[in-house]
Amino acid sequence: MTQLRDDFIWGAATAAHQIEGGNTNSDFWVLEQGGSGRFAEPSGDACDSYHRYPDDIRLLAEAGLKAYRFSIEWARIEPAQGQFSRAQLLHYRAMIDECQRHGVLPIITLHHFTYPRWFTENGGLHRDDAVERFAAYVDYVSQILHDIDWVVTINEPNIAALFAGLYAAPSEGSEPVTVAMALADGPDAELVPILAAMHHAARDVLRAKTSAKIGWAPATQAFMPTEGNEAKWQEVFDAWEGVFFDATEGDDFIGIQSYTSQPVDANGPVPHPPHPDNTLTGWAYRPDALAINLRRVWDLKGLPLLVTENGIATDDDERRIAYVTGALSGLKGAVADGVEVLGYCYWSLLDNYEWGSYGPTFGLIAVDRGGDFDRTPKPSLAWLGTVAASNGALID
Ligand code: BGC
Repeated sequence: MTQLRDDFIWGAATAAHQIEGGNTNSDFWVLEQGGSGRFAEPSGDACDSYHRYPDDIRLLAEAGLKAYRFSIEWARIEPAQGQFSRAQLLHYRAMIDECQRHGVLPIITLHHFTYPRWFTENGGLHRDDAVERFAAYVDYVSQILHDIDWVVTINEPNIAALFAGLYAAPSEGSEPVTVAMALADGPDAELVPILAAMHHAARDVLRAKTSAKIGWAPATQAFMPTEGNEAKWQEVFDAWEGVFFDATEGDDFIGIQSYTSQPVDANGPVPHPPHPDNTLTGWAYRPDALAINLRRVWDLKGLPLLVTENGIATDDDERRIAYVTGALSGLKGAVADGVEVLGYCYWSLLDNYEWGSYGPTFGLIAVDRGGDFDRTPKPSLAWLGTVAASNGALID
C-alpha cells in the first residue's frame, strides 16, 4: 500500500474575493457592478467570511483537516496607491493566529485573480510599474508572514493572463468580454514575462523577510492530444502551461490546480461537449486529471508538488466524495511511482462566488447566503477529515 509522507498536508482552499464579501476596492467588484450582463450576479456579501472566518477555520479544524489555504486581498491592504491599511494587515494576521490556535497550517496566497481598482484603472498589468507595485504590496504584507511556512505568490497566473482581457473596454459594437469568452482564448503571451517578473519579485521579498517556502500555482488542464495532433498539443501546452512552469525555476514547490482534462485537436483545446456526467461548471468529470497533471509537471520540472486546488462543482455530495476518491487514488499512484507530492488542498472549503455566479457549488460546507450565513458542513467535509486522519490509507 502506498504510504504518503508523514507530514503530508491535508487541507482545503478558498480565495478572498470569493468568500469575504464587500470587496469594494477591487477591480472585479467594479466589473460586477457594470450592468453589462456579463455576470449572472455580483459577489455582494459573498459568504461574509471577512467576519465569519473563525467559524470557517473552526469547522475545518473540527473535521480533522490540517491546513487552510486562503488569500490576502491586495485591494484591502492597499485601497489607494501607496496607502497601506494597518487595520487590514492585522485582520489577516488574526486569521493566521486563528489557524494556529486550532493547530491548522496556514497556506497564504498573495494574489488570487483580483487587483485593487486603482491598479487596473491605470493600466493593470500593462503599467510600467506593475512589478514594483506588486512587490511593494508583498513587502508590506511580509510583516505578518514571519512564521508562515508556505506562500503561493500568484494563483493560476495563466488564468490571470486570460482574465486580463475582461478589463479591456469593448470596441464599438462588440460585446464586453465574459469569463467564458476570456477562457476560450489562450493566455495573453505578452503578460507572461510580466506575471513571471511579479512572481520573482515577490519571491525575492519573501526570501529576504521570511523563511517560507515559495511557489506559484498555474492551472493545469491535463490537455491530451487527439490522434495526429501531437504538434498542436505541444503548442497549446507551451502557451497555456509550459511558459508558466518555466518561471518556477528556483522555486521551492509548484502548486498544482486540477479539475478536468481537455482534448486538443487541430484547432486547439476542444470545448467540453455536453454530457450528462459534466459538472456544474460544464466541465468533463475527470478525477484522473490530477494524476495526469502531477506526473506531467514532475517529469517536466522535478520540483516538489503541492496540490493547492482540486475539486468538483456538484450538488450531489456523494459524487464529490467519489471524485476526490478517484483523484486521491491517482495521486497515490503517482507517489508510488516516485512523484514528490507534499499535500492536497480541496477546492473549496465553502460554496462560494464562482467568478460571476453562485451557481456552481464546489464547497465542503454550504452557506445560507439568503439567511444568516449559517454554515452547514456536507458529509464530504467529515469524510475528508477521516481520510486525513488515516493519512490517505482509506483510499486505495
Ligand atoms: C480558481 C478558483 C476557482 C476554481 C473553480 C480555479 O480556477 O483558482 O478561484 O473558483 O478554479 O473554477
